[in-house]
Amino acid sequence: MHVLDNLKHLIDIKSLTTDEIEAIAQKALEFKNSTCTLKNTLEGKNVAMIFFENSTRTYFSFEMALNRLGASVYRFDTFKSSISKGEDFFDTVNNLAAIGFDACIIRTSTDGLIRKTIDEQLKERKFFKKIALINAGEGVSSHPTQALLDFVTIKEYFKNLDGLNLTIVGDIRHSRVAKSNIELLNRFGVHIKCLAPSYFRDDTIQNVEWHSVLEDAVENADIVMALRIQKERIQDIIEFEDYIKNYQLTEQNLPNDCILMHPGPVNRDVEVTSGLLNSKKGETILKQAHNGVFTRMAILDSTLGGTKNND
Ligand code: CP
Repeated sequence: MHVLDNLKHLIDIKSLTTDEIEAIAQKALEFKNSTCTLKNTLEGKNVAMIFFENSTRTYFSFEMALNRLGASVYRFDTFKSSISKGEDFFDTVNNLAAIGFDACIIRTSTDGLIRKTIDEQLKERKFFKKIALINAGEGVSSHPTQALLDFVTIKEYFKNLDGLNLTIVGDIRHSRVAKSNIELLNRFGVHIKCLAPSYFRDDTIQNVEWHSVLEDAVENADIVMALRIQKERIQDIIEFEDYIKNYQLTEQNLPNDCILMHPGPVNRDVEVTSGLLNSKKGETILKQAHNGVFTRMAILDSTLGGTKNND
C-alpha cells in the first residue's frame, strides 16, 4: 500500500496527491473494519496538541487516534504557554522540536500559519530536528482532516463518487470545511452546488454552482451538507429569522433519497431542525464523528508511522 513518506506535514488538500487521498481512505476503512492489525506504529513518538480555537470532535478524535497507535500525547495550553509572553509561532515549534516532539497538531484562526511556519525553514531559520505539522483546522481556508473523514463517510454510502451531486448549504464564506471538501470532492468528479444567502457567499470559490433557492439547490442531491453559522467570525448582524425561513433544512424540504451531513458543531434549529437531526437522516452526522477517529489514525500512521504495515 502506498503511504506518505514518514514525517510529512499535512498542510491542506491541495498538497495531497489523489493516490495519497485514496490511500488514507483505504487505510481508515481497514482500521474501522479491523482488516489490518492494530500495531503501535507511533510508539516512542511525542505529539503536541496546539489548539488556539475550541474543538470537540477534532481534538478528541486525534487524541484517541494517537492513543490507539501508541503515541505519547501532550496538550499545549495556549494561555499558559510562552506564546502569551510574545514568543512567535516558529520559535515555539522549534523549541518543541528541541524538547523532543515529533509532531504538532495545530488548530488556529490564522490562515496560512502552518505553511508559513514550514516555509520559514527555507529562509534563515531551521528546525532543530524534523517535526511534522498537521492542520487540524486553519482559519476560514482549510480543514483537510475533516474533508478526508467526510470522503471516507461518503465512500461508505456510495461506491463511486464520480457524478454524485452534493449540495452544500449555509455559511460557506466562513467555512474551512466547505473549502477543503470542495477541493477534494471536485477531484473525484462530484458535482457541487452551493446554497447560501448573499452574506455567506464566496465568489472566489471555483467549480461550484451557486444557488439561492433551497428547492432548486437540493433537487437530485445525493448528499446535502449543512454548515454551522460561524457567529465568532461574523462582524455583521445576521437575520436568523430570514436564514431559518429560507435555508434551514427540515424533514419536509430534504429529499428522501439523499444523505445528510454536517461537520459539527450543529446550531440546533438554526441550520437543521431538531426533528431532522433526531430522525434516521441525522445518524450520518454521528457517523462522520465516528469515522474521524479512523481517518485520523490513517493520517497519523501515514505521516508519522508508516513503518509497520503488513504489506
Ligand atoms: N468538525 C469540527 O472541526 O468540529 P470541532 O470544532 O468540534 O473539532
